[in-house]
Amino acid sequence: MAEPVRLNGLIAMHASFKSFRWLPVFTIGLALLTAACGKAPAPADAAATDARWASLGERLFNDKSLSSDGRTNCASCHRPSQAFTDGLATSVGAQGRTGTRNAPSLLDVAELPQFFWDGRESSLETVVLQPLTNPVEMGLASTEELVRRLERTPQYAEAFKPLGGVSGESAAKALVAYLRTLRSGDSAYDRFVAGDRNALGPDEQAGLALFTGKAACNECHVLQTPRARLTDDRFHHLGVNDDAIAGKVATLIPRIADRKQLGRIVLTETDVAGLGHFVASRKPADLAAFRTPSLRNVALTAPYMHDGSVATLNEAVEQEIYYRSLSKGLPVPLIVEERMQLIAFLNALSP
Ligand code: HEC
Ligand code: HEC
Repeated sequence: MAEPVRLNGLIAMHASFKSFRWLPVFTIGLALLTAACGKAPAPADAAATDARWASLGERLFNDKSLSSDGRTNCASCHRPSQAFTDGLATSVGAQGRTGTRNAPSLLDVAELPQFFWDGRESSLETVVLQPLTNPVEMGLASTEELVRRLERTPQYAEAFKPLGGVSGESAAKALVAYLRTLRSGDSAYDRFVAGDRNALGPDEQAGLALFTGKAACNECHVLQTPRARLTDDRFHHLGVNDDAIAGKVATLIPRIADRKQLGRIVLTETDVAGLGHFVASRKPADLAAFRTPSLRNVALTAPYMHDGSVATLNEAVEQEIYYRSLSKGLPVPLIVEERMQLIAFLNALSP
């Protein structure tokens, strides 16, 4: 009696194994999954890995050997002491080559939805490799050349190893990790918003009232709360150096056909640089429209505008009031004292 039962049991077991013939596959899959989950970094490890990427990015940012003349690095044009700008109207890169654009600050760059004065890129990972091969920036022949240079340097080969090895992608990832750490410090205005009513003096407070009132600068240089970014992330036509493209648009359009070449062409051809956001959107309304720059740290970032054509903060404010008047169709009436107050407020936007 006992024997057939055992046999039945074995047959039944065998049958169920047959129908579970995928079981080993599942088991291995599950084991791998568990192992992978087991390896998923704890938050502390993740922070350590981020820090490792960022410190590698900082090294790349400051390395002159990654340029064609061995004398140019990212910091040549994005100097930490000047809110990551360079004090020049238009930047000078490897071999003394001059570009067409004013270097923007890199503080808070991680918050931007679009990059460059014309918004022609929307991914920071794509942006960071471009200067390395742009002829008027660091001038390397190609991303492959970058990779070769990194591989040749034992310290880099070593540093990249735990992060997956040297590649263009990992160099971009490191630079982005570093850029994400660049945050602007608290300004007097931030302290004022946070509740310190004495952080701004009377002139600065009067300037703030003008900025959001009669002069309405905040329509574009927006004072978001709790932390003002002082930009609307949009593109406006303010007439800065319009003459650059007057009557030439039709002949310039073929120059921007190849989007992959845009960075090189915009930074080497003044006329094309003057097309503004049009190079990205291809909409006539965006001709000569430029991104509203943040005014955080504006006291440290002279000269001003996309082409660096305005030398001082006073002149920049004059020009903005003038174009403001044109766009409203009536003058924005600000007496000398009010202009001075507006500037006092702008000076309170740096730490
Ligand atoms: C020769 C000067 C120069 C060098 C070198 C340089 N940059 Fe720039 N950078 C500029 C200029 C000029 C722009 C603005 C270009 C434009 O708007 O078309 C810019 C724009 C940027 C932007 C976009 C910022 C924004 O607000 O949209 C980032 C990010 C950036 N650079 C990072 C870097 C990194 C990383 C390096 C080094 C790998 C580097 N730059 C090297 C001059 C330079
Ligand atoms: C319609 C939107 C708009 C308004 C309103 C506006 N701005 Fe601007 N502002 C811009 C844009 C766009 C630029 C960049 C123009 C360019 O480079 O061609 C700019 C540039 C500036 C700059 C130069 C910053 C830099 O880093 O180069 C300053 C300073 C400035 N604005 C201050 C003001 C003040 C003060 C007011 C109020 C009187 C004002 N703006 C009103 C859009 C605006």
